[in-house]
Amino acid sequence: MRCHKILIIAGFLVIWTFVFYYFMLRNSVDFPYPEDNYRRKEMSKKIEHQVKQELKKSEKLTDAVLQYLKINFPSENSNKKVETETSQPKDQGPQLQLVGVVPLTDKEQQTIMSLVEPPGQEQNNLELPHVESTIIHLKDHQPVIPILVLACNRVSIANCLDNLIQYRPNAEQFPIIVSQDCGDEATRNVILSYGPQLTLVEQPDQSDIFVPPREKKFKGYYKISRHYSWALNYTFSQGYEYVVIVEDDLNVAPDFYEYFLGTHHLLKEDPSLWCISAWNDNGKAKFIDVSRPQLLYRTDFFPGLGWMLTKNLWQELSVKWPKSFWDDWIRHPEQRKDRVCIRPEISRTRTFGKIGVSNEEFVPFTQMNLSYLLKDNYDKTFLNTVYTLPIVTYDELRRRLISKDGPVRIQYVSREQYKRITKMLGLMDDFKSGVPRTAYHGVVSFFYEKRRVYLAPNLNWKGYDLSWS
Ligand SMILES: *[C@@H]1O[C@H](CO)[C@@H](O)[C@H](O)[C@H]1NC(C)=O
Ligand SMILES: *[C@@H]1O[C@H](CO)[C@@H](O)[C@H](O)[C@H]1NC(C)=O
Repeated sequence: MRCHKILIIAGFLVIWTFVFYYFMLRNSVDFPYPEDNYRRKEMSKKIEHQVKQELKKSEKLTDAVLQYLKINFPSENSNKKVETETSQPKDQGPQLQLVGVVPLTDKEQQTIMSLVEPPGQEQNNLELPHVESTIIHLKDHQPVIPILVLACNRVSIANCLDNLIQYRPNAEQFPIIVSQDCGDEATRNVILSYGPQLTLVEQPDQSDIFVPPREKKFKGYYKISRHYSWALNYTFSQGYEYVVIVEDDLNVAPDFYEYFLGTHHLLKEDPSLWCISAWNDNGKAKFIDVSRPQLLYRTDFFPGLGWMLTKNLWQELSVKWPKSFWDDWIRHPEQRKDRVCIRPEISRTRTFGKIGVSNEEFVPFTQMNLSYLLKDNYDKTFLNTVYTLPIVTYDELRRRLISKDGPVRIQYVSREQYKRITKMLGLMDDFKSGVPRTAYHGVVSFFYEKRRVYLAPNLNWKGYDLSWS
């Protein structure tokens, strides 16, 4: 009888160990960091070693249990056993009475484990990356907004990261997560040189991507799309409500963080908003009013280039994320569903080496009342303003034939007319899904020789025309 009991106990412990390590192995497959084959092999070696150690440990454990039983039950006499079971008061008897008959309680497991090894050591030798539990709000309920930087093989990413770190007001509130695709060693080293100022994650799927033969030359776009999807999934899976995406070739303005912090709540208040972008597609020096860096707009055109989205939007988009050309895809009516972005008068990002102005003046967006950007307020005011302005022609504007100062409107009725005017002025002249860059209700606002100009369709405008793209 005694012998049976010991065998049951020992058997249980061995099985328990295997079950425990089965779960550890299974979890280690969900290892959140990407691994190339080499590291995968390293990993399996480690696990093998770990399993051997555990087998040894389980032997020790069995020995310990046997010893424990010998000490507490020196005799094999069955009379004594009956006596033990019947007369021994529960709380002073050996706890092992329960073993093998009912599952161990946590406390009992701890007791037994502590016979073998001090607690808390068994998880450490696997060297899984230490994942801190994610904070999504600060103590004062301010959101934590991660900045997700998408990297590949540009070592010049240092430019971008220097900037992001230099202007970051609070590392706790704005964790920088750099997601690297492509596995470029030099770039990885640059990123790692920032140490704990940022977190590096690597896109694990470096398999060759399937590209239809006719699209071979667009392979890069397929990879970019795959990377975005993985990186956003990863970042939102940490629990954040908002994420700001920054490509590795962007510089940011000093009030970049302030801008997103001041506007993020609009995304929750106004369901017709789906993104905040730091980019003005017509942000060249000659088209902006430098005296109004605080000015923001609504736009039907998705600008990208430093932009914020919510977890809810990602849940909606992630399940149908395209294999390539995600930016054209996101601009399609099926995705956009008439939702709009906020964009600034003066860009808060700038691509290295490209012409463009980004604001150097710090605008305290978090202190400002931005509710003029909510749909109901904005549509009334903006459309009213635009359609009560005097109409001029492009020619009058260019030849300075307008006698009065102040804002004006130029009307366009056809795609060709729009193209001609914007080309001559030097504005962006393209459409995506029928929407001109920066347009809101078809209206493109820009600054021209100290004057606000709205390039606008006529009043009975019926909406964007996909065939204009
Ligand atoms: C991202 O998550 C969505 C939804 O959970 C899933 O359908 C999609 O396959 C994921 N994409 C990647 C690249 O993990
Ligand atoms: C913010 O501006 C809106 C108009 O856009 C106004 O109705 C509201 O009262 C303002 N709120 C504060 C706190 O000033």
